[in-house]
Amino acid sequence: MSAIEHRKSIDPMSPYVPGKPIDDVKRELGLKEVIKLASNENPLGTSPKAKEAAIASFEATNLYPDGNCTALRNSLSKRLGVKPERLLFGCGADEIISFIGKVFVNPGDECVTAKITFSQYEASVNAMGGTMVYVPMKNHGFDLDGILEKITPKTKAIFLANPNNPTGTAFTGAEQARFLEKVPEGVLVAIDEAYGEYADMEDYPNTLPMLEKYKNVIWIKTFSKIYGLASLRVGYAVAAEPLISLFEKIRPPFNVTVQGQAAARAALHDQEFVKKSFESNKASKAYCQKAFAEMGLEWMPTEANFITVNVGIDTRIAFAALMKKGYIVRPGHALGMEGWLRVTLGTIHQMEGFVKALGEVLEENAIASENI
Ligand SMILES: Cc1ncc(COP(=O)(O)O)c(C=O)c1O
Repeated sequence: MSAIEHRKSIDPMSPYVPGKPIDDVKRELGLKEVIKLASNENPLGTSPKAKEAAIASFEATNLYPDGNCTALRNSLSKRLGVKPERLLFGCGADEIISFIGKVFVNPGDECVTAKITFSQYEASVNAMGGTMVYVPMKNHGFDLDGILEKITPKTKAIFLANPNNPTGTAFTGAEQARFLEKVPEGVLVAIDEAYGEYADMEDYPNTLPMLEKYKNVIWIKTFSKIYGLASLRVGYAVAAEPLISLFEKIRPPFNVTVQGQAAARAALHDQEFVKKSFESNKASKAYCQKAFAEMGLEWMPTEANFITVNVGIDTRIAFAALMKKGYIVRPGHALGMEGWLRVTLGTIHQMEGFVKALGEVLEENAIASENI
């Protein structure tokens, strides 16, 4: 039997490689305790109120969810001060990113992003036969002027992650406003602020009001990070109504679960948990930066819930050695940053353990290389 002919545009694509699951590492290495610092999850868990709401919603498991996410939509609309019609919900921000290719990209079209950024932008574009044009990093962050230079008549969309994953860097509100002013109206700008709530710089963009002026911008957010709901898969976007109505045409009818909707709505009403998560992250960031400085290690400035550190050794080796000590991180060779590790900021206690383990790994490797 001959193989079914698939769309050739997916040939360059590779499956997403997620952070290694805790249970796999425990089993493979015979470890009792494993700390996952690989997927930028919330180390404080989930808001107790959100958990309670999700559990209560299991009563309705036999019924399809409300495809309109009405209760969540109304709560979020009130919180953000935008009309409910300007909101779009997705099975995580990932799904919203995947919609962009489906709505805007034809074979031969181009999109633009940074060389080192979130892999799902490329997936969204390549899946539809488009090409991603990459702009080299500037000081480990997005080079917004470099992106403007790459806009051509073929450009359909620009993807910005702010803070960026995996570098953690962020651009300012003034830089964003200047950039948006120069992007042609016919080019979509996706501003992905999945980690925005963690940003601690004074001039971090206030993107929501900018959407009033720039009707070609879609602002992408998630409940996976600071709200601690990664497993329930709820993301959302805000944009001008005509843009949102295009996305609604291709959105699967029941793409956000009953449990996800209930938990996200309750999580919105627990800003105490968000505040606690922010403070915990800030303390862990300060701790790591000080510890890395004492170890003589370079790190990238981060506004997110992870930090990227230059360990100066093969990251395959560092990754494996840290895993043996019970810490799962993201090795840079898989992210286009050889020599660097991306480490989720866990609790202070977790980071103390991680820093100790990293120190041991670097010492063991220094001794090993002296003995060669
Ligand atoms: C920059 C960025 N955007 C979007 C996402 C996807 O988030 P979600 O869990 O909502 O799909 C991630 C996940 O790590 C991310 O790093």
